[in-house]
This record gives sequence, structure tokens and C-alpha cells, in this order.
Amino acid sequence: MAKAKLIPPYGGKLVNLVVEGEEREALLARAPKLLSIKISQRNVCDLELLATGGFSPLTTFMGKADYERVLHEMRLADGTLFPLPITLTANPKELPAVGEELVLRNPNNDVLAIMRLDEVYRWDLGREALLAYGTTDPKHPMVSEMEHWNKVCISGEIKVVNLPKYYDFVELRLTPAQVRARLEAMGYDNVVAFQTRNPLHRIHEELTKRAAERVNGSLLIQPVVGMTKPGDVDHYTRVRIYKVLVEKYYDKNRTLLSLLPLAMRLAGPKEALLHALIRRNYGANHFIVGRDHAGPGKDSTGKPFYGPYDAQELMLKYEAELGVKMIPFKELVYLPDEDRYVEQEDVSPRARVLTISGTQVREEYLAKGKLLPEWFTRPETAEILREMYPPRHKQGFCVWFTGLSGAGKSATAQVLTSLLLERGRRVTLLDGDVVRTHLSKGLGFSKEDRDANILRIAFVAGEIVRAGGTVICAAISPYRATRNEARKMVGENFIEVYMDTPLEICEQRDVKGLYAKARQAMVEGKPMGFTGIDDPYEPPISPEITLQGYGSSPEENARKFIAYLEEQGYLLPQ
Ligand code: ADX
Repeated sequence: MAKAKLIPPYGGKLVNLVVEGEEREALLARAPKLLSIKISQRNVCDLELLATGGFSPLTTFMGKADYERVLHEMRLADGTLFPLPITLTANPKELPAVGEELVLRNPNNDVLAIMRLDEVYRWDLGREALLAYGTTDPKHPMVSEMEHWNKVCISGEIKVVNLPKYYDFVELRLTPAQVRARLEAMGYDNVVAFQTRNPLHRIHEELTKRAAERVNGSLLIQPVVGMTKPGDVDHYTRVRIYKVLVEKYYDKNRTLLSLLPLAMRLAGPKEALLHALIRRNYGANHFIVGRDHAGPGKDSTGKPFYGPYDAQELMLKYEAELGVKMIPFKELVYLPDEDRYVEQEDVSPRARVLTISGTQVREEYLAKGKLLPEWFTRPETAEILREMYPPRHKQGFCVWFTGLSGAGKSATAQVLTSLLLERGRRVTLLDGDVVRTHLSKGLGFSKEDRDANILRIAFVAGEIVRAGGTVICAAISPYRATRNEARKMVGENFIEVYMDTPLEICEQRDVKGLYAKARQAMVEGKPMGFTGIDDPYEPPISPEITLQGYGSSPEENARKFIAYLEEQGYLLPQ
């Protein structure tokens, strides 16, 4: 087949910021003497797309003139349509003088690029959120992320000395120039690109195959692997799925799978324009936009941020200017009686239709270990998802005991450990006192030290849970805010257990003689900051479960908790 004539990049030619040879050596030699800043994961993604031409004609993070016009008119200062701001924020205290050079490093401190600092300007969260994303609601993932950005934006000429290095799926990580070369070799002048941040199900297979037929061209399946919506299926799992599907179910002579290191903005309609613009740089002149493209979900009042077809409306307005024609799809649904997918508006009102939502996939299938049906997804996809998202009784979890000293936490935790081991779980017990002899050796009982101790326990607990283990933490953990921090660090499957034993009873028991010591210290005027005596204990407001540490034995409480675990699906009932 003859080499295809692809559409030229947006703005005429592909930007390339990567320097090589002597120039690179000279920059690398200079770098250690320059001021440097660490840039975020999002910035690294943006830098890579700037460097390889994915954002052409943009050659750097936006300066003030581009930024302002993009916010108000979706155009760069020279009038070129560009839907969203691409900026780099920094702490002004870490910057050299304007005109000087600055090293950009990734979060691991590797040198990526040298920037000449041409411009520093202030930005405002509320203003950017409203103008670019149409909302200041922190439920929008971009708005909540922006709250952590630095005070000023910086811009200037960039020379990239090292592109981000990847070790996973290397063969699929292609630059725009490499993708163009492969598409040219396929021989189709028309290329339709497909964007996704989700596993590919039958619906998406239908969209992509129909689109390729419609344009009589090749198909560029280009999933985002940079940053997507928090909570999405991780890219390792997704790419394993894409690879098998492309291999087994697509026409190899006209399908290319390539990974896009984009950090999504979840900006719905405007993001659809950005997606199309980027894909043009990779060689596509058509782009699929379906229902709720790049949608961030619902706002704090439960309403979707953008309408399901807003992205199609905006694309229609700008497709000519972008040079990328939209291939629109209305929501697709499955007709079981005819074994085929159709767009919802074409379904007769009496027809039986089937759909499975993302939430249903997680809660009604994966969480229960049920295999997804073949009409919904290919068996290979169902199997990979089942393997990566085991049912709850095969997932790790963290039991977090909190309560006064002497409330019965350790005693209950010990019985619970035996009962869980008996059920075949792998259990780690992180007891507050034991932890202080190694993990937290040297820490005292000041507020900072107590917090440090709790957060160390939480860090280890999080690692254990993510690796599928069971961890029981038993420490007083007196402060509510710190326990909430621990909950965040552990992530899902955090079970807070309040061991509710009145202070008088704990003090009467005084197993370790510590209450007596604390009272004595008070009398002597040398308070030791003991929880319940001269340091506060803040009981949980809504713990997953409360156990009474008096009137029931540790064994009774542990067995009651086992029943709770069965009820919640963490253990299979016996
Ligand atoms: S997105 O954030 O990357 O847009 P997703 O991976 O879910 O999310 O969607 C990829 C593309 O498929 C988008 O163009 C989206 O509109 C389209 N799409 C997804 N599900 C459907 C559906 N049920 N019907 C029609 N189009 C869909």
C-alpha cells in the first residue's frame, strides 16, 4: 500500500523541544549549578506533550498573554484556537531572577529540562476555575487539585534534556512523529482517533469499529495513561486489556494502539477540543466524541457538571478550525433480542435494552466476584478485571482500634489476630507499644511525636492493605484529625473500631500503672501529657463499629467483630 498523506500537525509543524548531542551535554553540565524546582506529575505530563509536539503549536507553558486570552476566548495571543490553559506554577521563593535559567526536575529529582525564566505572573484559583472549567466546586477534580498549586505561573524557553523515562509498555509509548510514521505506513489518508480513560468494553469496540468504517480509514486507539479521574481503573490494568483486545478483535492492518501521556483536566466540552487538537498532532483528522466525553461526574448538589452532549455541540462549532472532524455517537445500548448495539435514540420504545453502569461493574460484579457477561465485555477483559479487582473477601483491610489506654484495644486485637489467622488470613498486628520499640523508636509523647507515630503506623498499614494483607492497628490514636489522616493514607477498607471504655474504668484497671504515674506527676507539677488525664482524647464521630471495653470480654468483642466482618463481606461466613 502507498504511504498515506496525513493531515499536517496543528499550526503546521510538530514542535520538538528535545535537545541532543553537544548542546545537551553542555546543559547537563550546567544544571547542577542552577536553581531547580521539582514539578508535579501533571507538569511532567504537560512537559512531555510540549516537548514531543503533542500540544503544537504551543512551545512552552503559557505566558500571561496566552493564558488570559485562553481563559476568556479559548485562543492563544496570536488568535490560534486553544481550549484550555497549560501552565506551570511555582513558589516565587524558589525562582531565580527573570532572564536566568532554571532546572525543571521530576518528583524523583531527575533533571528533565532547563527553562529560561522569561515571565512570572500571578494567577487566581477562583477565576481560572470559573473561566476554564465553569465551576468553583471542589467536587470537580481539577478545582480540588488546583487548591494545592503554587502562587505564580512561570513561562520561558524550554530545552528538554531528558524525556520522562518509562519501563512499562515501552513499545506502546510513541511520540507524535512515531505515530505519524506508523499511520503513514498503514496507507490510509483518513485516521480516526479514539480517546479513553476506561477499560474497553463491547460498546467502545462498537464505537471504534463503526467509526473506522465510516471514515474508511485507520483507527488510532489512544488511551490516556498520564492522569485520569481519581478512582479510575489504573493504567496497568487498562493497557493489558487494550493490548489483548487489539490483538484479538481488531484488524491489525488498520489499527494502532498508542498510549497518551496526557494529564486530563476532566473539562468535558473544552477537553474534547483539546483531545482532538492533540490527536491531530498525532496524525488523526477524525475524532470520536460520544456521551459525556471527559466528564468529571456530578457536582456537590448531585448535578452533572456538563450535559451529556455538550462536548459534541462545542466540537461541531470548532471542528473546521481544528481540522479534525467529529465522529459523534449518541449513547449506545444493547438489544439482547437482536444481539446488537444501537444508539439509544434509534431504539423503539417497546424494545428490551440492557446496560451496565460503571458503578454496577464495581459493586454488582467485581465486588461480588461475578464475571461480567459476554454481551457487555469480551471474556479476556472480564478475566483481567476479575483478577485485578478481587471480591471484598480477597481484598486487604485495616482494622484501626482507637480508645483510651487500658480500654482493651491490645487484648481484643490479640484475640482477633488469632481468629483471623484461624480463618486463613495473613495478619500483621501493629500494636502501639510494640511499634514504639522499633518503627517509632525515639519518639516521645508530644503532639508532634504522637502524630508521627500514628502516621508511621498508617503508612505501613496502607502498604499492607494495598498488597492484599490484613493489618490490625492498636494505638490510642487520641486525635480525630490524625485518625482521619490515617484513614486517607490507608485508602479503601479502613475500619475504625472505637473501644469505648469510660475513663474511670481504665483508670481503675491501670494495667501498666500509668494512670497512677500521671496523677502523681500532676501533683508534683510536672504533667506528662497523659491521654485522658492531662491530654485530650477525641472519640470518633462515626466509627465503623463501637465495642464496649467493659462488661464484655476481649474474646466476646473479637467474635462480635468477626461477625461484623462477615456481614460486610470481608470474610466469607462459615
Ligand atoms: S473519557 O473521559 O475518556 O471521555 P471514557 O473512556 O468513558 O471517558 O469514554 C471514551 C469515549 O467513549 C468518549 O468519547 C465517550 O463519550 C465515549 N463513550 C463512552 N461510553 C459511551 C456510551 N455508553 N455511549 C456512547 N459513547 C460512549
